[in-house]
Amino acid sequence: MSNLDITFIDELEEGEIIQSDIYFNKTLLIKAGTKIDDVLLKSLQNWGITKLNTLYLKNPERDVEIEQIPKKKEKIFYSKELFDIKKLFYESLQYVVSETRYGLILNSDAQITWLENLFISSLLNSEISMGLFNLKKKDPYSYFHSFDVFLLGSLLADMSGIRDIRSFAIGCLIHDIGKLEISNEVLHKDGALSKVEFDEIQKHPLYGVEFMKKNNIPSEYLDLVKSHHERLDGTGYPEGLTGDDLSEEVRLLGVVDTYSALTLQRSYRKAFSSIKAIELLLSKANKYDTKYVIHLMELINIYPTDSIVRLSNGRKARIKSVHPNQPYFPILEEIGKPKVYQLPLNFSVTISRFIEWDQVVDSEADDHIDKREIYWNLLISKITDGDMEEAMNCYNLITKGMGLNNIFIDVIIPLIKEIETKRIEGELSTGEEHDAFLKIKDILGAAFKE
Ligand SMILES: [Fe+2]
Ligand SMILES: [Fe+2]
Repeated sequence: MSNLDITFIDELEEGEIIQSDIYFNKTLLIKAGTKIDDVLLKSLQNWGITKLNTLYLKNPERDVEIEQIPKKKEKIFYSKELFDIKKLFYESLQYVVSETRYGLILNSDAQITWLENLFISSLLNSEISMGLFNLKKKDPYSYFHSFDVFLLGSLLADMSGIRDIRSFAIGCLIHDIGKLEISNEVLHKDGALSKVEFDEIQKHPLYGVEFMKKNNIPSEYLDLVKSHHERLDGTGYPEGLTGDDLSEEVRLLGVVDTYSALTLQRSYRKAFSSIKAIELLLSKANKYDTKYVIHLMELINIYPTDSIVRLSNGRKARIKSVHPNQPYFPILEEIGKPKVYQLPLNFSVTISRFIEWDQVVDSEADDHIDKREIYWNLLISKITDGDMEEAMNCYNLITKGMGLNNIFIDVIIPLIKEIETKRIEGELSTGEEHDAFLKIKDILGAAFKE
């Protein structure tokens, strides 16, 4: 074999492009077109690969002979493990990715390869990979949700200029690792959770911190594991931190974690559409950092109705309607022109950025909007606190002068949805949600007896 046939790994330079697919044991190890970066170099180093025999590179039918440094036990473990990790990556990808939740972002091979390398290098830490394998065995949903958060989180972190993407990506993967400590009975229960069970679930961020310490996992991810349920307004857990205490990484993770939890299908509840989830995140600017919600919209190219956007042709448009099956091709109306059309399927015009969310408000209701919002928030808190007298007062103030139909459409149904959202977001247990529904039933009973 001549020297010309060999490329030494330490001769590879960042920014160089791999020219041919590189196979090992009939598994595609590195795809042609992959740019060499520090993550890939580190992966090669960790796999114990020092040089590649490029003789067979143009013939993927035959394995590329990969020369490894003398086999130590640990190195053999890594190369065997590598193929399991690659298999897991594609299995997980298939499970979580759909265009209705991701838009068209993962149609690019380059993105997938980048994420694959990031996933592989993250799982080379055997404590982290064992933790995730165990989580998948114990509670597949929690594992796939973590993978989902990893994909979206890494892409969003890249777009948002987060400095250490690799650390952030690992933090995303293990953010719910504390669920390993929650009993299966509580974790898999799809009926009402008792207060004690609910409190137990809320301990998973702290259990995650304990898991990390016990397994000597570097503390750079600790903040993400501990604080991913904290909210800007201080209503989160476990510490009730507020905006000033939350790093950019924690704020970003809060957005992606909630988007994933709302939109990923669970066996016992219908998932939110991506549009509904984004609307919810946008409407809760007191809890979720709007900057990252906007980055998320621009990443997946999914914008809710009444978004004002800038088009690639320089014009401004309002999103008129969005089909849940193809949310990235909305119907829009150019501002100042009575021209309504669907975003062209050939991408000749695209949405380049989000300007604002301009929800149309009934002008007659304008004067009352602030007061109504105050009574509305009060009504919800009184119902969840069980203060029926005050809840009834708020209900009467909100529904004054309304017809029966409007009471149902504008008050009761949104009320039920808001309570349900609070439970999904972890602010209420299923037991508390159930109690709140009974209170709504009592209010209706009292209101219509009169
Ligand atoms: Fe969590
Ligand atoms: Fe989570």
